[in-house]
Amino acid sequence: MKQSVRNPFVANSLILGIESSCDETAAALVRGGREILSSAVHSQAAIHAQWGGVVPEVAGRSHLQKIMPVIDQALLDAQVTLEDVDAIAVTTKPGLIGSLLIGVSAAKALAWVRGVPLLDIHHIEAHVYAATMEHEIGVYPCLALVVSGGHTALYRAESPLEMKVLATTRDDAAGEAFDKVAHILGLGYPGGPRVSKLAVDGDAQAFDFPRFRSKDGTPGFSFSGLKTAVLYQVRGQDARAPTPAPEDIPRRADVAASFEAAVVDVLIDETLRAAAREGLTTVLVAGGVACNSRLRREMALRADEVGVRALFPSPAYCTDNAVMIAGLGYEALAAGRTADLTLDAASR
Ligand code: KG4
Ligand code: ZN
Repeated sequence: MKQSVRNPFVANSLILGIESSCDETAAALVRGGREILSSAVHSQAAIHAQWGGVVPEVAGRSHLQKIMPVIDQALLDAQVTLEDVDAIAVTTKPGLIGSLLIGVSAAKALAWVRGVPLLDIHHIEAHVYAATMEHEIGVYPCLALVVSGGHTALYRAESPLEMKVLATTRDDAAGEAFDKVAHILGLGYPGGPRVSKLAVDGDAQAFDFPRFRSKDGTPGFSFSGLKTAVLYQVRGQDARAPTPAPEDIPRRADVAASFEAAVVDVLIDETLRAAAREGLTTVLVAGGVACNSRLRREMALRADEVGVRALFPSPAYCTDNAVMIAGLGYEALAAGRTADLTLDAASR
């Protein structure tokens, strides 16, 4: 359906961002790609906790209930109305298809009603953009490490909208490894923040857990061997033995700290090696695991030692949010990359 769209691009465009790819329903208003006016997030963590992970069907239903209230909240917090919005940016991929479609449908309906451009946003590119929003401009070209529950990969980024994959994980994502180890340690879901909190009281050198490095030196990550090592440490040689009660797990904090140190070491080693290979001196670290304080601290230190600058988003913009969607939406609008009402969602 053809529709006349007003207002192609102005320097301080106000963008409404919408995110619903996994278990957060989020909306945000950002002006000029940087000025954050509001960020509303409804987390489904409590809903999924009873299942120990995200249940797609349950996620979709919750997004449907929350999408309009969350958008209204973001508009209210920013003290603007839909009339003030110049374009609508929405995550279309990757993610849970039923969840993505709810955000995409809402964005299309609002863009149609208002006659404003629709912007097609890639969730991973948006995570990376989040690391640039609170810093000065001029970070490109750079290396980007994305560490979330669903992804662990290194990219070479020429600009906010041009990223090339350099390395990925061969098995689990880093966040997934945190979530699985949290389960082994009886910490519940979501695991990353709980493992990290327990690790504060532990000795990171107590256990020498394996750090993956490919035999032929090709770049990439792997966390399944590490997870298995933690499992054997906690349950003994019989991995099928029943999970001990959390209070019966010996040296739980030491296990958490040693596991966290192993993940962080692998992420930093691989990232700094890739930066050297690519001749890049700026590293952007993004995604939920970028909240991890050990990763933030150690990456900053070790990058500095080799003349590399490491930039992280504030913790609130590491996990899923719509600020990053509206921010990258501004770049898409500036580049003339607008979408029409045939816009669709894709799981990958
Ligand atoms: O980016 P995100 O919100 O969702 C995805 O797109 O996957 O990332 C969520 C992941 C979860 O696996 C969670 O356990 C992990 O990020 N995470 C952390 C921390 N906070 C969140 N992992 C380690 N330390 C943390 N502080
Ligand atoms: Zn994410």
